[in-house]
Amino acid sequence: MDRSNVERATVTESSVSLSFDREMSATDVERIQKSLGARTAFQVPPAVGAAYDRAHQTGFTKSCRPEVGALMAVLAAAVPAGGRVLELGTGVGVGLAWVMHGLRSRSDVNVVSVEIDEEKSKLVSGAGWPEQVSLIVGDAREILSGTGTFDLVFLDVPGRLKASLIEKAITCLRPAGQLLIDDMNRYWGKGVTSGKPVDRCDPHRLLGDPRMICSSLQFSSGMILGTRLGDSV
Ligand SMILES: C[S@@+](CC[C@H](N)C(=O)[O-])C[C@H]1O[C@@H](n2cnc3c(N)ncnc32)[C@H](O)[C@@H]1O
Repeated sequence: MDRSNVERATVTESSVSLSFDREMSATDVERIQKSLGARTAFQVPPAVGAAYDRAHQTGFTKSCRPEVGALMAVLAAAVPAGGRVLELGTGVGVGLAWVMHGLRSRSDVNVVSVEIDEEKSKLVSGAGWPEQVSLIVGDAREILSGTGTFDLVFLDVPGRLKASLIEKAITCLRPAGQLLIDDMNRYWGKGVTSGKPVDRCDPHRLLGDPRMICSSLQFSSGMILGTRLGDSV
């Protein structure tokens, strides 16, 4: 198989993220996947591929899955003119790269990403982002009250911390703003290997919130996607 036009191939134990210099057919992607010995392959945009590489090189395993990131890109593309996007938990910038992929060349959307680990944030800032992107170092629990309101929030801090941020995340949503919470599949990750559900934030709290309309998306790492209802509802 000719792999000369593969820009990047990031292989983990069972999956590979491939980025190409042109659109590839599903058959070609499958062939490359097999030649690399991975069970699954995802075709990702080059900038996103670079972010997955960063994760791979630094041994960071908590980046969002390509299915989740692709959904973030879809939601980012729907952010209204002059809108704002917030990510809680930058990691090494994979989610952010997906958001920017969704925004394409739009410069009217302000994107804020918060990360508690200074080293990670520094690593991400070195990747070079357009000037409407702000990387904030700090604890999302403290920073959130002073960051204003948003049209799209990606809540992606670890485990139980999510539960403590749900209220603030809902409060900072603009009417019709959307909230995506990752890792809501309790059998994902450690849950797969142990066969026991992992103690994650309680999805029912969010699913039943009268200010929101939500859907539980139980594929990949599992997500809850919600839209903030207008105040008159
Ligand atoms: C699941 S990873 C984020 C992955 C990233 N959103 C992506 O899509 O690639 C969670 C990140 O949250 C960060 N984190 C943990 N506690 C935090 C806190 N209190 N405030 C902000 N970030 C936090 C961790 O350091 C870690 O990088």
